[in-house]
Amino acid sequence: MVGIGVDVGGTSTKLGLFTEEGNLLRKWQIPTDQRNRSERVIPNIAASIRTVLKEEGYHLSDVTGVGMGVPGPVQPSGYVEICVNLHWRDRYPARELSELLDGVRVELGNDANVAALGEAWKGGGEGTKNAVLITLGTGVGGGIILDGKIVTGIHGLGGEIGHLHVYEGETEACNCGAYGCLEQVASATGIVRVAKRRLRKDQAPSSMRELGETLSAKDVCELGKAGDRLADEVMEQVGNYLGLAVSLLCLTVDPEIFIIGGGVSKAGAYLVEKIKKHYDRYTAISSNRGQIVLATLGNDAGIYGAVKLVL
Ligand code: BGC
Repeated sequence: MVGIGVDVGGTSTKLGLFTEEGNLLRKWQIPTDQRNRSERVIPNIAASIRTVLKEEGYHLSDVTGVGMGVPGPVQPSGYVEICVNLHWRDRYPARELSELLDGVRVELGNDANVAALGEAWKGGGEGTKNAVLITLGTGVGGGIILDGKIVTGIHGLGGEIGHLHVYEGETEACNCGAYGCLEQVASATGIVRVAKRRLRKDQAPSSMRELGETLSAKDVCELGKAGDRLADEVMEQVGNYLGLAVSLLCLTVDPEIFIIGGGVSKAGAYLVEKIKKHYDRYTAISSNRGQIVLATLGNDAGIYGAVKLVL
């Protein structure tokens, strides 16, 4: 028997085929088709699972279950009211996928909650029962684990830290409809927005300018690390907002560690230092508190956590 973990992201969907013991047999990814309110996402996942099972010599009847993380709050009934970055509304993704896979069991979770489970199981949080994971990707997600259990909340809003209000004066609406969300300044797209604004406001030379429309969060981090002053100041600002969010979480749930994951976390110690500086400033009450570490499973945290839902 095998299990399958699926991590639906804003740009790509990661999938993994696992043994029942949780060993990864094969991982692959498919693009997340966002056209027409991402209506093809679930059918594409089903088709891809069928193809890979066939290639690996398995049948649907060999599948114990499919665990899936989606980028939005998931209610205990499996109802997803909104996935802001996929433009999904009123969906039951697990039921939809199960129907397309001849009734195979499908369990659903929020992508960041599921990644937190993965990190706690096999990654940076191994051995801890109290951890907060912050994922910085297309969106900003959060997973809070207390006493070994994910805090999903009554309405699925537990850990929705990407939509914490962290600053005043934003003029553009976040995909969720609010103004001044953490996601607007600390996601991969958010970092680029902050950088572009900075470039418009400040004429100082910066290699970011030469990259024009192709500028990515990775570029901003790398240039900042390499000593580009404007890029470093942008990352300082991003670190400030993240530090504020970490501080708010520290003072509400006080976990053992904060794990930073998602594509942006590839910036490594440079990013952690930026966050820590402001976290320390906002949490002056005590230095005896959770430290910030990097996720160790990288982009695989989601598929590990997802499959854990069915193993
Ligand atoms: C969503 C979260 C999700 C995060 C990362 C946010 O916009 O509201 O549910 O975890 O993006 O995908």
